[in-house]
Amino acid sequence: MKALEPLLEWLSIPSVSTDPARREEVRRAALWLEERLKALGFRTELHDTPLHPILYAERLVREGAPTVLVYGHYDVQPPDPLELWESPPFSPAVREGRVYARGASDDKGQLFAHVAALEGLEAEVNVKFLVEGEEEIGSPNLLPFVRAHREKLLADVALISDGAMFAPGVPTLTYGLRGLCYLEVRLQGAKRDLHSGAFGGVAPNPIQALGWILARLKDERTGKILIPGFYERVQPVPEEEKALWPKLSEEALKGELGVEVLPGEEGFSPLERLWARPTLDPNGVFGGYQGEGSKTVIPMEAGLKLSMRLVPDQDPEEVAQLAEAYLKEVCPPGYRLRVQRLHGGRPVLTDPHSPPMRLMAQALEEVWGRPPVYTREGGTIPVVAELKEALSAPIVLLGLGLPDDNLHAPNEKLDLVNLERGIAVIRRFYELLGAGRV
Ligand code: BES
Ligand code: MN
Ligand code: MN
Repeated sequence: MKALEPLLEWLSIPSVSTDPARREEVRRAALWLEERLKALGFRTELHDTPLHPILYAERLVREGAPTVLVYGHYDVQPPDPLELWESPPFSPAVREGRVYARGASDDKGQLFAHVAALEGLEAEVNVKFLVEGEEEIGSPNLLPFVRAHREKLLADVALISDGAMFAPGVPTLTYGLRGLCYLEVRLQGAKRDLHSGAFGGVAPNPIQALGWILARLKDERTGKILIPGFYERVQPVPEEEKALWPKLSEEALKGELGVEVLPGEEGFSPLERLWARPTLDPNGVFGGYQGEGSKTVIPMEAGLKLSMRLVPDQDPEEVAQLAEAYLKEVCPPGYRLRVQRLHGGRPVLTDPHSPPMRLMAQALEEVWGRPPVYTREGGTIPVVAELKEALSAPIVLLGLGLPDDNLHAPNEKLDLVNLERGIAVIRRFYELLGAGRV
């Protein structure tokens, strides 16, 4: 495949946005893309921020022609645990029709399809790119950038590939993303670590207290989140909408995860729980001795990383406040509890029937030979809600990955057929759009 060589080069740049030691590499990934876009006739602007640069680029062919704003991110998640990769995360390898590397699917590979699609394209469409290096850390600098540069970004449609198809060979359009509220909770007992014999019996134990607190966050029987007010703004899904959802094979999902049950909120199907219900999940716990063998110690501190996925119309700020108040309320006396907000993102719903969505549906059908299914997704892309507000233009979420792409995990991959067909779909979309078929 012709498009592949440059992608492999881009994937070999370890642009891990959360790692301070990788700062220069993150910048190098932005510069790499800037050069590619320049070669395609784009005028580019690299905007420095307090952390990683934002790349804006435009290729305006004619005033009055339809304008597309493509969004994506060139940063990636850390590759750990390294020993579980079959080939090193930043030495891209092609095996059995797939490219393996950190960022292959999330999001360099998918964004690259949008770059490759423009090569030699003659459609009369103005194209703008907005690409950031901080998506994986909550887009702290992009959100204010969008508000400040609204005029520059204006477009008739925002086009984003940073998600997945429903299943292999099933063309997919997405019209909803969940939001996120991520908290770090620290619980302190005594002012120093204590010998568990010399002080056990009188010392507060923050790990134990954390267990008590954790047990009060979610009902064991119903799976309901117990934070007062948590569900207040949750919008129910209309029956007509659910009727249009594709069928999820619970057996296949169980097999894929290697589990026998799919635990979750009582009264909702797994698909609804994935797409349209909020969740609360501890993502990490720490405290006490973690090394080999035993150490008799009562630690002074323990902690918890907590992620809550949000759905329309929940607001991350408000949920953080509700959660913090409840955590303080259920914290037993004798402990100091502190809550830090790590990052968030608003949930978003877009119009599945907008004219550009219909055009993309046509392009998908022409390339894949079958009409797309319409999905929501459980993940979060913080800027999408912001773009929806700032541009008041339709949004097209065209996921090119697959559910088994191992996002954020070892052996992340992208199927080359998805890349190839993705490029064809995007090209066809531009042709239809340029020919005024909206
Ligand atoms: N591309 C993902 C979001 C995604 C995942 C969309 C799966 C659809 C399906 C994105 O890069 C991501 O990982 N987002 C983070 C957001 C966070 C760090 C603010 C997420 O969802 O955890
Ligand atoms: Mn992504
Ligand atoms: Mn990601």
